Amino acid sequence: MVEVTFVTHKGEKRTVEGHEGDSVMQVALNNGVAGILADCGGALSCATCHVHIAPEWIEKVGRPGVEEETMLEMAVDPDETSRLSCQIPLTGALNGLVINLPASQL
Ligand code: FES
Repeated sequence: MVEVTFVTHKGEKRTVEGHEGDSVMQVALNNGVAGILADCGGALSCATCHVHIAPEWIEKVGRPGVEEETMLEMAVDPDETSRLSCQIPLTGALNGLVINLPASQL
């Protein structure tokens, strides 16, 4: 199992577990983490699964691909830490990952 900690924009933390291969978006939805809508179900066509990667995890998580970058332009207030959580598969190397949730998806 891989632990992921979600931090709301108010600083509230919640740590949950997911399986390797699950996306960060799936882990959030499976555990009822609020703040990720994922309207398209992970098809890279909505940007409502937008999250901010904690700075210390950015290198391990990696940068968005070209298609994801295009979709991120539709997210609310994207920045250099932004990723679409449906495009981040969990691996053992991401155990302890910290995800900052945006204030809003819409
Ligand atoms: S769930 Fe729609 S882009 Fe990630």
